[in-house]
Amino acid sequence: MCGIVGYIGLRNAFPVIINGLKRLEYRGYDSAGMALYHQDLQVKKTKGKVKNLEELFINDKEKMGSIGLGHTRWATHGEPNDINAHPHISNSGNLVIVHNGIIENYESIKQMLLKKGFHFQSETDTEVLINLIEDIMLEEKVKLGKAIQIALNQVIGAYAIVVFDKNNPDEIVMARLGSPLAIGIGEEEYFIASDATPFIEYTKNALYLDDEQMAIIKKGSKPEVRNIKDDSIIAPYIQELQLSLDQIEKGGFDHFMLKEIFEQPNVLKDTMRGRVLSEKNMIKLSGIDNHLNKFLNADRIIMIGAGTSWHAGLVGEYLFEELARIPVEVEYSSEFRYRNPIIKENDIVIPISQSGETADTLAAIKLSKEKGAFIYGVCNVVGSSIPRESDSGTYTHAGPEIGVASTKAFTTQVNVLTMMALKLGKEKGTVSINDFNKYLNELENMPVKIEKVLENDLYIQQIARHYKDATNFLYLGRGFNFPVALEGALKLKEISYIHAEGYPAAEMKHGPIALIDKNMPVVVIATKKGQYEKIISNIQEIKSRKGKIIAIVTEGDVQVKSLADHVIEIPETLEPLSPLLTTIPLQLLSYHIAVMRGCEVDQPRNLAKSVTVE
Ligand code: AGP
Repeated sequence: MCGIVGYIGLRNAFPVIINGLKRLEYRGYDSAGMALYHQDLQVKKTKGKVKNLEELFINDKEKMGSIGLGHTRWATHGEPNDINAHPHISNSGNLVIVHNGIIENYESIKQMLLKKGFHFQSETDTEVLINLIEDIMLEEKVKLGKAIQIALNQVIGAYAIVVFDKNNPDEIVMARLGSPLAIGIGEEEYFIASDATPFIEYTKNALYLDDEQMAIIKKGSKPEVRNIKDDSIIAPYIQELQLSLDQIEKGGFDHFMLKEIFEQPNVLKDTMRGRVLSEKNMIKLSGIDNHLNKFLNADRIIMIGAGTSWHAGLVGEYLFEELARIPVEVEYSSEFRYRNPIIKENDIVIPISQSGETADTLAAIKLSKEKGAFIYGVCNVVGSSIPRESDSGTYTHAGPEIGVASTKAFTTQVNVLTMMALKLGKEKGTVSINDFNKYLNELENMPVKIEKVLENDLYIQQIARHYKDATNFLYLGRGFNFPVALEGALKLKEISYIHAEGYPAAEMKHGPIALIDKNMPVVVIATKKGQYEKIISNIQEIKSRKGKIIAIVTEGDVQVKSLADHVIEIPETLEPLSPLLTTIPLQLLSYHIAVMRGCEVDQPRNLAKSVTVE
C-alpha cells in the first residue's frame, strides 16, 4: 500500500499535499515525495518519512503552485531510497506520476522501451509506466488522458495513479484498478487521494472511482469520468461523507487490527499476484528460481523467527516436509542464536519476519552466515535489515501492518511458505502435476473462502461475549493446525491479557487435561481432513470434564456440532492450506474479547510492533 495525494485548484497545493501525506503515512512510510508546478515542474523526494520531505522545501517560493502530486511509499519493487521514491518523471521531463499498486508485466514493457531508447533512473515499475504513457503520446500523437487509457490497457496488475503534464498544468488525470482512489470535490478545486483523510477538512463531497475507471479534471471544469477499457463516459456519483478523520484512516473499522483482518482476502491476492499462475500451472518465485539447485540439494531447512513469525515457520515445517520432502527444523531466533547450533553449508536458513528488524532474528542470521548457510528471507518490509542481510528471499506484500498483533502478516507468511513448498515439490516430483494444479486452483480460491469466513464476524462477536471474562483458555490443534492453535493463543493473550496456551491436541492427556473444568474455554480446530476422528476423542475427553468447547469445523460438520458449545464453520479446503482459513476465526475471537474487555487493541500494553532490542 502507498499513500497518494493530488491537488488542482485555486489554492497553494503544498500544504494540502504535505498534510495529506502525513495523514496517509499509515499506508506506507519508507520514502516520500512531491511534485509541484509553478512556472516549471519541481520534484523533491527522499527516503524516510514525510517530515523529511517537508524539510526539503526550504523557502516559500519552492512551495508555490496550484497543481501538485504527493506520495508516501510502501516499497514493493526496488529498495526504499531517494531514486525509487515517487513521483517519477518521464524521460522528456514533462510527465509526472505517483502510483500505488504493482505492475506485473513491467519488465517486458521496460525491455520494449529500452529498445526505443528510453532510459531509467529507478528500479520501479512506476517509472516504466510513465514512460509507456509518454511513448504512446509520441507515437499515437494523443493527449495525456487518451495515452493513459491506451497504456492502462497494456499493463497487467493493480494501480491507482495520478498524472499531469507540465506542458498542460491545468489538467490532472487519475485512474484505478485494484487500489483505492477518492476525489474530493471542492469549489473549483479538486483533491485526489488514496482515501478521504487528506481532504475531509476541505470538503465532504467525494467521488470514489471504481475499478477500471479514470478521471480527467481540467481547471474550472467538472471531472470527466471514463471507462478505461472502452473509453466510454460514466456519470460520476458524488457522495457526502459522514466518516470522521479517524474512522477514514481505519477504513471505517474501529481499529487497525480489525481493518487488517478484513484486508486479508485482498492482501493474499497481492501476495499471490504474478506468482500463482494456474493457467500456466506454475508458481513464479524469482528468489527460488535463481537458487533452485541450492534448494534441491539442501540437506535441511532451518526456519527462524519470533512470535507469530515462528508460528508461520511451524506451518512451513509441515508444508515443506509434506510437499517437498525436505527436512525442516523451526527455531526461536532468540534460542538459536545463543545455542551454538550445528549449521552446515548445505543448510538453508529461512528467517521469517514481518518487520524485517527483529533483533534476535537478525543476530541468528549473522550467526548462520558465519557458518556458511544460505539465507532466504521471508519478510514484509522491503529493504529492511533482514532482507538486506539475506542472500535472497520472497516478500509477503502484506502492506503496512499497523496493529501490533500480527494478522495479515501471518496469513501472507504462510501463503509464501505454501508457494515455496509447492514449487519445490513440483520441481522434485514429490507433488504430482495433477495435485499441483489442484493446489494452485485452491490457492486462487482462498481469498473468496476467507471472505466467507469473515462473514462469521457477528456470530463470533456473540461467542466472545460468553467468554470475555474467562481467566484461562486452551487452544488445541493437530497437524497443520497445531501451529494455528499456538497462534490463536498468542493473539488472545497479547491483546486481551487473558492467559492462553496452545497445545497439540494429542498432548492434552499429558498434563493440560488437568486444567479442564467448566471455567476453562477450549478452542479446538477440528477440520474434516485433519485427524478428525482423533480430535473428536479429544473433544469428548474435554466434554466429559465439563470443559466449554469452541470448535472450528469444516462447513457441514454434524458430529462436532453435537458435542461443542459453539461451532464456527470454515469452507472445505485441502488440509495443508487450512491454516489460511482456520486462523481467521481465532483472530476475530481475540479481537472481540479484547474490545469487550476495554483493551487497547492496536497498541497492547508492554508490546512493540517490532522488537528491535534483545
Ligand atoms: C505477534 O502478534 C506479535 N506482533 C509478535 O509476536 C511478532 O510476531 C514478533 O515480534 C516477530 O516480529 P517480526 O515478524 O516483525 O519479526
